[in-house]
Amino acid sequence: MLRTSHSSADSKLSPSDDLDSGTTTPESTALAAGEAQNEVPSDRQSKPGASAHGSAHSFQSEQFLVQWKDRAGQVETHLREHMLRWTAGGPSPLVDAIEYSLMAPGKRLRPLLALWAAEVVGGDYSVAFPAAVAVEMIHCYSLIHDDLPAMDDDDLRRGRPTCHIQFDESTAILAGDALQPMAFAVLAHSFQPAELAARACQLLSLAAGPQALVGGQADDLQAEKTDWSKSPEPPALAAGDAATDVSSDGQSKPGASAHGSNENDAKSLLARIHARKTGAMIRVSLELGALAAQATPAQMAAIGLYGQAIGQSFQIVDDLLDVQSTSEQLGKRAGKDEAAGKLTYPRLYGVPESILAAKDYTEKAIRALEMFGSRGEPLIRLAETILERTH
Ligand code: IPE
Ligand code: IPE
Ligand code: MG
Ligand code: MG
Ligand code: MG
Repeated sequence: MLRTSHSSADSKLSPSDDLDSGTTTPESTALAAGEAQNEVPSDRQSKPGASAHGSAHSFQSEQFLVQWKDRAGQVETHLREHMLRWTAGGPSPLVDAIEYSLMAPGKRLRPLLALWAAEVVGGDYSVAFPAAVAVEMIHCYSLIHDDLPAMDDDDLRRGRPTCHIQFDESTAILAGDALQPMAFAVLAHSFQPAELAARACQLLSLAAGPQALVGGQADDLQAEKTDWSKSPEPPALAAGDAATDVSSDGQSKPGASAHGSNENDAKSLLARIHARKTGAMIRVSLELGALAAQATPAQMAAIGLYGQAIGQSFQIVDDLLDVQSTSEQLGKRAGKDEAAGKLTYPRLYGVPESILAAKDYTEKAIRALEMFGSRGEPLIRLAETILERTH
């Protein structure tokens, strides 16, 4: 759970604004065998029935976490099958590096989103396994590359040495490269009919591409190099959605260009970075699961709004945990963002305001699920768990 102690910002984040830093304590080596911390979020501090929107639920947190764990295990079986299929005959250590990173103990959030999205629109979760595998492959590549010396330069991931530390830089780059076409191979071969496969590939390519994930990573790195203290006080954001929406047809909404109308608007830029580097993959995970279950356009739209909102809260909490947690708890280095000069929520708004913002996005996400009635409960629990997660 996030602590609300030290505030470092004087700026206010209103409950419909957008967007999300650190201290430095890099130890040195990987966490020994303590990999359990990255498997399924702990809800040690959550209070069943006392959710973000204050009602009692039939689908309780414990049941939700059991389902998460069970389904993450099923996803890993499918991941391994696809990994073996699409790397067969490939050389080592490339294949070893792919397996090392892909099968490392992650939370499997994005695959689980695909499965729950299939269910919330009325399908069986099993139709979403190809989507689940594909999004985890793209996510895993993005982590390998994110950790490289030329990017965030991290030595710990999922409780283990990062791919380029365990192998070497060129092998890590190539493992990330390989995971991208593997993801599209999974979609192309598993979605039926061909039109559905084409649509799935189109959605994933947009979410992973320069208008979304890769663009967000580029802006994230560029923002490190900017001296924000020399920038004029940015205007408050009006409603936020223009800055955070990366629509699934790949078209940026007005005001959502890479640097906005005011290049010095750090807060607006931060909202867009989060929407692109993190939100787009979260949203498309849901959309691909829903697509596999033949969702209606209205269902797709609701799922998209939900994904956009939890994408923001997920990255705000990631930035808060970097400030408030430990490397042991996270399975990745804590305190790195401030040391790197990252533009983050806690840096711009302070910890308490960042927590309020994450809560606001959680409520927004839950509202987006109204049309699904009780079928929406797992996704409601998920939105709350993102807020309460400890790793
Ligand atoms: C880490 O994502 C990268 C971010 C977008 C913050 P996760 O926190 O989902 O990482 P894993 O998959 O559980 O390792
Ligand atoms: C990375 O954001 C998002 C992607 C991998 C695309 P971060 O750089 O904050 O993720 P962590 O903290 O290293 O997991
Ligand atoms: Mg990064
Ligand atoms: Mg990083
Ligand atoms: Mg981070």
